[in-house]
Amino acid sequence: MDGERPTALHTGLSRTVELAELGPTLSAESETETKAPEIFRQLLQQAIRVSEQANAQALRMATDFAAVYAREQHLAKDFEAKLEELALLERQATRYAEDLATLLRLERERRLELERALGAEQNTNVELRRTGLQGVSHIVMAVSLKDMTTGQHLLRVRKYVESIAAKLGLPPATVEEFGYSSVLHDVGKIQTPDDILGAPHELSTDQFDVMKQHCIDGEAMLGDAKFFATGRAVAREHHERWDGTGYPDRKQGREISLAARIVAVADVYDALTSKRPYKEAWSAERGLASIEAGSGKQFDPGVVVAFVSLYREGAIEHIRTEVGDQP
Ligand SMILES: [Fe+2]
Repeated sequence: MDGERPTALHTGLSRTVELAELGPTLSAESETETKAPEIFRQLLQQAIRVSEQANAQALRMATDFAAVYAREQHLAKDFEAKLEELALLERQATRYAEDLATLLRLERERRLELERALGAEQNTNVELRRTGLQGVSHIVMAVSLKDMTTGQHLLRVRKYVESIAAKLGLPPATVEEFGYSSVLHDVGKIQTPDDILGAPHELSTDQFDVMKQHCIDGEAMLGDAKFFATGRAVAREHHERWDGTGYPDRKQGREISLAARIVAVADVYDALTSKRPYKEAWSAERGLASIEAGSGKQFDPGVVVAFVSLYREGAIEHIRTEVGDQP
């Protein structure tokens, strides 16, 4: 019987009891023996699962860490880039500020230089103007010596011209310029033969052709100085007509300088209302009527309107009587 497994059939009640007590033990041992590999396998599997879970957890953590690290690295790079950008902006701002300061300094220096140059130019202009006006006086004196009637004629023309220019709203400097330029209108007559200048009758066609030359001679005599620019235009164009039938270039309308258009009215009115070797002086009314009749033909209509307005105010007659014909 040793080595045989006891059973309830082979033993009594107590044995059965024993069997009954021993039964589970014998059974557990038997199951243990039977299930040990399974348990071990299960434990092993469990251990493997735990290990796998741990590995997965570790991997996740590592991945998360890597992601966080990468993000932080990225943020760090962004931060560094921003810092570099800020540093660049700061350097640029500094450079702009320096450039601006340099520009301001240069601008200030340039302004001072311009002010100095302007002051010097103003002095030069004053000197040039003084010299120019002396030149005008000398020229007028020379013309006056040649033709005794010319001195008063020039003075009246100048006053008429200045009044018309002011009536047209021109600035004072231009009024003055037109005035001193107007006295140069017949400067070319210095070269006109005396017999034609003093002819006691109306000129023949040939004589008139010679007389016409005074416009071209006058412009040439006044050279190329800027001071005489308006004077040259007046000398050349004061016998041109608004309708283009004048001389020497048959200019018309606004092709003729404004100064010359004004001088044309003033010169003709004074010639008509003054005594000449070949005619008596016309009355002021007759002279005015002739000027009005020439509006749009011989004369600029706008200049005629200004002249008529001055006439109605009494300004023209005042000048005419103020500057007599006696030397
Ligand atoms: Fe003339």
